[in-house]
Order: sequence, then structure tokens, then C-alpha cells
Amino acid sequence: MDPSLETPRLLLTPLTLGDVGTLRALMIDPDVRRWAAEGRVLSEARVRYLTLRSLATFQRHGTGAFGLRLRAGGAFVGYAGLLPAHAPEGGLELGAGIWPRYWRSGLASEACRAVLDDAFGRLGLARALACADAPNFRSLALIARLGFRQIRTAPGTFGAIRWFVRERP
Ligand SMILES: CC(C)(COP(=O)(O)OP(=O)(O)OC[C@H]1O[C@@H](n2cnc3c(N)ncnc32)[C@H](O)[C@@H]1OP(=O)(O)O)[C@@H](O)C(=O)NCCC(=O)NCCS
Repeated sequence: MDPSLETPRLLLTPLTLGDVGTLRALMIDPDVRRWAAEGRVLSEARVRYLTLRSLATFQRHGTGAFGLRLRAGGAFVGYAGLLPAHAPEGGLELGAGIWPRYWRSGLASEACRAVLDDAFGRLGLARALACADAPNFRSLALIARLGFRQIRTAPGTFGAIRWFVRERP
């Protein structure tokens, strides 16, 4: 079954190895990598590994990381999706990264809502996790907008990392 999703403004398709160059360009943007990669400039090999991890997640869980493209014109906007969580309880963790020129247009919310609706609905996922560095106010606002509640804080590169959960509605 094709796991691709559609929203009013976006097409969401599973990231593939053909997206590695496009994805790396986004992930090394200074405003994106600050939070999505703890400031590091990820190598192409690392982005390839992350993409393979997403493809394996689609095989195992039916969901993973999606590339986001505008329905009007097809421009690559960013990524959003669920990947195995770096958390003691396991499960899947929501992540997203959008080119800064598209920030504050609601596209990240639109994509994340579609990913969560699909996971809670079609896939019957019981809960999703999310986390953000305490100073990453845009990510925290997105997580709040999506209806997550905080469960704990943990130490992180930028002070605290705040962890959240959202249960199936
Ligand atoms: C985290 C990130 C994805 C959030 O992006 P964002 O654009 O702020 O998030 P949203 O899509 O929810 O946009 C919400 C904003 O769009 C505005 N907006 C404009 N048009 C809108 C519309 N049609 N629908 C909804 N919101 C709209 C909202 O009012 C809100 O504005 P505000 O910031 O003034 O409150 C983005 O900042 C990013 O890529 N950061 C770098 C990577 C990162 O930190 N990733 C997360 C940690 S891994």
C-alpha cells in the first residue's frame, strides 16, 4: 500500500535515497541544523543512513519520515514524520524540519497533523512521543499546537530537553 499522504497544500511521500541531496541541503541550513542536528553539519553518508532508517521504519511500522512538497508547483518544503524514539520507553517520535522561508505559514502543523492522523487512524498507533530543546520555542509551539502534553525533562546540549506524549484520540 502507498503510504503517501495529502493535505490541502502538501503532498507527503516517504523519503527515498533519491531525496538525500535535497534533504541534506535542508539539514545543513544553519537555522535548521541548530535544532535538528545540534548544530552539526551532517555528512551525506549520515543523511543517507537516516533515510535508510526511515525506509526501515516504513517497512516495520507503516510510517516513517515524509518529504513535503507543495501541491502547487512541487517545491520541496521539508520533512516530517515518525521515527523510533531515542527514549527509554521506545515507541515512535515525531520530528519535522522546514526551510526557514516557509516557517510561520502553518505548513509544519499541516504536515504533522496528517502524519499523526494517519498513524492513530489507519495504523492504530497508541501513542506518539515528541521532544524539543528548551530554547527551541518554534518547535515547542508546534508540539503544543498538535496537542502533546509534557511528561519529563532530560539534560541536553542546550540545557534541558522537554519530552511530550500524545495518545490516540
Ligand atoms: C519546528 C518548525 C518545523 C516549526 O515551523 P513553524 O513554521 O513555526 O510551524 P507551523 O507550521 O506550525 O507554523 C505556525 C505559524 O504559522 C502561522 N500561520 C500562518 N498561516 C497559517 C495557516 N494557514 N495555518 C496555520 N498556521 C498559519 C501561525 O499563526 C504560526 O505563527 P506564529 O509562529 O506567529 O505563532 C521549524 O521552526 C523548523 O523547521 N525548525 C528547525 C528544525 C527544528 O527545530 N525541528 C524540530 C526539532 S527536531
